[in-house]
Order: sequence, then C-alpha cells, then structure tokens
Amino acid sequence: MKLSMPLLSRRGQQLIDAPPRPRYLFEHFVRADRSWDPELRPDGYISLCLAENKRMADRLIDCLDRYRDVPGDVLGYDDMIGNLEFRRNLAAFMSRSFLGRDIDADHIAILAGAGSVLEILFYVIANPGEGVLIPTPSYAGFWPDLEVRDGLTIVPVACRSRDNFRLTPALLDEAMASAKVPVKALLLTTPENPLGRVYTRDELRMILEWSEDNGLHAVFDEIYALSVFGERPFVSVASLRPQLGDRAHIVWGFSKDFGASGLRCGVLISGSDDTLRAVRELAYWSGCSGHTQYLLSRLVSDRDAVDDYIGRIRAGLKEAYDRVTQHLDALAIAYLPAEAGFFLICDLRAHLAAPTWEAERRLWHRILDEANVNLTPGEACRIAEPGFFRLCYAAEPEAAVQVAIERLGRVLRGRA
Ligand SMILES: Cc1ncc(COP(=O)(O)O)c(C=O)c1O
Repeated sequence: MKLSMPLLSRRGQQLIDAPPRPRYLFEHFVRADRSWDPELRPDGYISLCLAENKRMADRLIDCLDRYRDVPGDVLGYDDMIGNLEFRRNLAAFMSRSFLGRDIDADHIAILAGAGSVLEILFYVIANPGEGVLIPTPSYAGFWPDLEVRDGLTIVPVACRSRDNFRLTPALLDEAMASAKVPVKALLLTTPENPLGRVYTRDELRMILEWSEDNGLHAVFDEIYALSVFGERPFVSVASLRPQLGDRAHIVWGFSKDFGASGLRCGVLISGSDDTLRAVRELAYWSGCSGHTQYLLSRLVSDRDAVDDYIGRIRAGLKEAYDRVTQHLDALAIAYLPAEAGFFLICDLRAHLAAPTWEAERRLWHRILDEANVNLTPGEACRIAEPGFFRLCYAAEPEAAVQVAIERLGRVLRGRA
C-alpha cells in the first residue's frame, strides 16, 4: 500500500491557497499579452497599476551597451553582500546624488532587489510575531515582504484624507498604543508610494526621534529618491546626522530611479555592523548577479552619463505628470497633487455607489471590465477610506496612458 503524503509542505500549500500577490497584479499578468496597440488592438488592455518608469529604457540600454569589457571575475563567487568595488562606487554615487553626506562602502549590502533587502533586513531585526508600524497609504508589497516568510505583523498607521494624509506623532502614538503585538520597528517610504510626496527635513527628524524614544528600528525606503520633479527637494534621512546609529537603516535600489527592476539590484545602508553581519549570512540566497553588479558599477561611476541620465529622468517625469494632470483636469477627474514618483492618487469617492470597500471593488472591476484599464485599488495600498485609486503613468507609452484616461473618463461618466 502506497502512503499518501501531501505534495507540498503546509507553508507551500498556503502560498497556493492564499497567494500573497495582490489581486490587481494577478489581473495584470493574465491580461499583459493582450496589451493596447493603436493598430492591432485599439481596445487592448492598458496597465496603469505598475510603479515603473519605462520611458528611459532605450537610453539606459545604450549606456549599458558601452560596458562590454566584462572581466572573467564576474563569473565566480564574490562577497555575497556585493562586490567591494561596486559597493565603493555605489557609496560615492549615492553620497553625492541623494544621501546628502558621505557614507562608507562597509555600511552597504547589495541584494537581489529592494524586496529582498526588506525581507532579509526585517528577518534579522525582528522576531516572528512582532509588529512593524507602516504609515498608510502604503506600498502594497510591504505586506508580502514582511509577513510571508518573516512572520511579522504589520500595524498600519492610518493617515487620513481630511488631514491631507499627513503623518503626526499623535497618529504614531495611537497606532503604538492600540497594537496587538509588541512593535519592533517603523517602516516608511520617502518619496511616498503611492502619494508621490517627499517628507520634509522636520518631518523626518520627528519620525527618527519618535522611533528612538520608543526604542524602535526605523527603516527608510528611499527607492524613489532620484525621481523627484516638484519644487521641494528630496531629503534623505542620512543627511540629518553624521551617524544614524544602530537602529536606522536606508533601502534603495535600481528598480525605480533607473527603471531596471529586472536587473534585481537593491541596496541596504545600515550603521549597525551586527545587522550587516547577520544580513551577510543570508545574502547567499538573494545575491545580485556578478554581471549585473559590474554593469551597474560602471554606470554609477560614469559621472557624466549618470548625471545626464538623472537630469532626464526628472525632466521626463515632470512632463509626463503635467500631461496626465492636464488630461485629468480636462475630464474633471479629481486627484491629489504629487511631486515625485511615477504615480498619483485619484480621488474617485464621488463615483462609489456607497462609501464601502465592496463599492470600491465594484468600481475597480467596472473600470477593468469596461475600460480594460487596471488601476491599483486603494484597498491594496491600505488606504483607510474607500474610493482612492493609484494611477501609474510611466510604465506605458504616453499615447497608451492618454487612451486609458479617456476610457476611464467614459466609465466615470457612465458611458463605457
Ligand atoms: C516603496 C517600494 N519599495 C520596494 C519596492 C520593491 O522594489 P524591487 O523591485 O527592487 O524589489 C517597490 C516596488 O514597487 C516600492 O515601491
């Protein structure tokens, strides 16, 4: 008699029974091969739900194409938290371009994307069952990053639309006091995803001091640091002090500012030697390829090329944002102004049948079914109130975005 054992482990089965991937992404990938084309598929699918900037892809490919003299060393094992020369070049580049002070290569770890950095960093700083405060609206991916394998519980700090979604010490105190698990850390994104806003120096100081007063780790995800196009400059938490201490960490990567999410290169900056030592022990399972590190090392040390590239990213985003907001204005679709990133929040509360999550889901579905346009629903971004949707405008060609907004306008006016 053959023994019948389950095929998968409990945790493997759990991934199938309750996939951590949000629904809007699932719907994106089933439609992605039927995308809009002005001639072939004028009714085709248009994604406005992916936070990517693909407008600079050709230029980046041209840049990387120049670095063909790849040395044989890239084929072998290296330091799992990144090649030392790459970390040195990266430290110099990040210091001068957005950190606001010099940092040392010894304080940097490179892993396969910012998602890996977050998962591994939180694995080594928090125990299963502990809580992490995250101001909302938030990047939807923090939930799978921290909850699936690290076993942490996210404690949302619900910023409210009536306060323009501002984070205050009172909200942090409230979330801390009502948390049902012991809280170990605070994680926030600046520039914010999905609000597309930068935190000011004073706000960052308040958050850092509040975290220190409460004995928490503070993790600042600065992955959109170079994608700022508004009047207010980006301020990195690194620039607040010459040393951030053992419990403050910064995350960055090439996925957003360089539009290179496929290269899987994320960066951790930490002042804590022990944190970095523990991260190094896990890095083997999430290393960035030696070839990629070589190309990116050449890129960030090619000062003229990279500075020109960054100037163009910002100018291009400003143009794209202006065009999208003009179009939204013309169709009277409400949105919250942004100054960074590749997205903005549309306020579609007036179009909900009722102020409920069910009504938000129905509207999202209607837009998907009738307009063939996928927006990120606010529920995925853990917005405390139904009716807000994130619209990403740089992952598709400009003409596609314009068509998508036209179609969105028709659905909202009740004419599909
Ligand atoms: C705030 C934030 N952090 C991290 C990530 C993940 O980046 P990566 O693709 O490098 O893992 C994203 C991706 O959307 C993001 O928006």
